[in-house]
Amino acid sequence: MSASTTHSCQSTGCTNIATLQCPTCVKLGLTDSHFCTQSCFRNSWATHKAKHQVTNPKATYDPFPSYAYTGPLRPVYPLSPRREVPADIQRPDYATDPNGASRQEQAYGNAQIGDDLVKMREVCRLGREVLDIAARAVKVGVTTDEIDRIVHEATIERKAYPSPLNYYQFPKSVCTSVNEVVCHGIPDQRSLEDGDILNIDISLYKDGFHADLNKTYFVGNVDDKSKKLVKTTRECLQKAIDMVKPGVRYRDLGSVIENHARANGFSVVRTYCGHGVGKLFHSAPNVPHYAQNKAIGVMKPGHVFTIEPMINEGRFNDQTWRDNWTAVTVDGKRSAQFEHAVLVTEDGCEVLTRRLPTSPASQL
Ligand code: MF3
Ligand code: CO
Repeated sequence: MSASTTHSCQSTGCTNIATLQCPTCVKLGLTDSHFCTQSCFRNSWATHKAKHQVTNPKATYDPFPSYAYTGPLRPVYPLSPRREVPADIQRPDYATDPNGASRQEQAYGNAQIGDDLVKMREVCRLGREVLDIAARAVKVGVTTDEIDRIVHEATIERKAYPSPLNYYQFPKSVCTSVNEVVCHGIPDQRSLEDGDILNIDISLYKDGFHADLNKTYFVGNVDDKSKKLVKTTRECLQKAIDMVKPGVRYRDLGSVIENHARANGFSVVRTYCGHGVGKLFHSAPNVPHYAQNKAIGVMKPGHVFTIEPMINEGRFNDQTWRDNWTAVTVDGKRSAQFEHAVLVTEDGCEVLTRRLPTSPASQL
């Protein structure tokens, strides 16, 4: 604005020349709110303040203001508009269901890949590429919605469908779970802050197969307890992977995971489990991460499933936000997660979602 521009007071009935500006308007970049005196500003406040909401396209809000949040994190709405998937990309059955329900998942059971190992390997490799691209975007000030945009674009660029999108009405293309979020966080307008931990959970669908993997990242400088939590969680996943071979019972993975978590003073989430993955996003077997579970089944060559322990600083218990997705710890303390998809081989396993030579260096 040039020095010679004059403004008249916005207060009703006042025609004085005005040189004061509403500080909120200045912050929001609104340039047409001037007042002659503090008292005219105060008298106009009741009506003036509406401008901050109505005219600011970036105005954000908590959609569940009466919910008793368990920790400091809040959803930051509005969510961005639904992202489009080009028509020539093959969709899973739930993509067009009004409830996002998968009839195939409801009808079938397990995840044997059969002759299609080439396709499953390929989609898992692409999933890893997309996770690594998302990881490079993690920085203080970046919104989780921006991570969603990057994931969505990298996915469709690979002619794949982002599996979360419309899965039981999940509204976005990736899960972003910050701090006390256990899993299934919805990307929104919240900017990442120095000291956050962020899990990025990538799933994509191509040539009839789903990939599924996730990893927890540090944002800026993270405190030592969070570092220990994230490192322990990664170790829990590795210890479980090291056990995978034909003949091992699915129920036995939970005891190694829980022993290692407890030895470090942490607890294991019980509500969410690993799962078969392949032609279906989620199928048998069910793979609990806690000890003394009653999971059914024995590993056999050709089985493909995920291991994805969620480990908490405090209590193991979780609850869900009113968005019906975001799972948080009940005590508001932090939670971390790592996930791989593994194939049982004749003498062990192949980690289908393993790091690539181009993957960013581990932060651990
Ligand atoms: N990717 C998650 C998993 O590891 C599932 C997310 S379901 C979604 O199993 F709808 F939230 F995407
Ligand atoms: Co999974």
